Amino acid sequence: MWRFVHITDPHLASERDGVWNNRFLCSMMPEVMACLKRDLQRLQPEFLIVSGDIVSHNTEEAVLQARDAIESLGFPYYPLGGNHDCYSLESRKWFTDAYAHRLPDSKTYYSFAHKNIRFFALDPWWVHNDGSLSPEADKNAAKRQQTNLNNMRWALPEEQFLWLIKELERTAEKTACAVSHYPFLPVPDRFRRPGYKFGGNLDNGKKISRELAAFPKMKMVLSGHIHTNSIQRFQGIYHVTTSALPEYPVEFRIVDVYRNRWEIKTQALSDSSFAERSLRPGHSYTAGTTRDRQATIYL
Ligand SMILES: [Fe+2]
Ligand SMILES: [Fe+2]
Repeated sequence: MWRFVHITDPHLASERDGVWNNRFLCSMMPEVMACLKRDLQRLQPEFLIVSGDIVSHNTEEAVLQARDAIESLGFPYYPLGGNHDCYSLESRKWFTDAYAHRLPDSKTYYSFAHKNIRFFALDPWWVHNDGSLSPEADKNAAKRQQTNLNNMRWALPEEQFLWLIKELERTAEKTACAVSHYPFLPVPDRFRRPGYKFGGNLDNGKKISRELAAFPKMKMVLSGHIHTNSIQRFQGIYHVTTSALPEYPVEFRIVDVYRNRWEIKTQALSDSSFAERSLRPGHSYTAGTTRDRQATIYL
């Protein structure tokens, strides 16, 4: 057995505290990261996947600070951009410069193989009001998204979709996993309660999920963005969306890889005080039900 870990939405290098579904406490992230480092040392994953919103603020200095915080965990990692990292060509350049040593080909989307699994890291673009797709968000979106994501939409560009399909056909690995900051699928109805804030899924995510189902090697799609733990099975592929580190339940995912199966587990930090600080009464459901918290994918 070997394992990797999926962490997402750390929103690092920010002191900003606010409320999303639970209290969103960026100011506690230095302590959270120190605790996470200790917990990872015990778990010994072979690498980490960090699926976006690594940074919160739109400056290059913040990107570098956030990168240093991820490096401080002391494990090999694969970074992806989210809406807070990749909202313009300039911010993508900050990202590829900061993570040049972790990105094959210095691109914001890439693939890598680890022990017979092929991973695909994706970089969806912004959908504008007129329906056009662009790597650049609307003017002011970078600032506005600090408080809300109203009317913000994303989709995977055709070029990346075609690349993904071609790579799936070409690569020799027997299993594959795609990673995107934004979930491919809408959040399951079980989370849609009065007051629940849903950050959105890829406009073309369902369509792409159907196309990916034609590839038996594609087993799982990992994502973040909605700060909620959910697992859905759609046409044979497991869609695993993980909660954000500065917000209740302050958890991450462990994937244990066996010869014939992948076991997905949800792991709380060893110090439960972070989750307690963030929890708002009545909002503990973002941690997910049992089926959102564990799954076994048979290969
Ligand atoms: Fe986020
Ligand atoms: Fe996000």
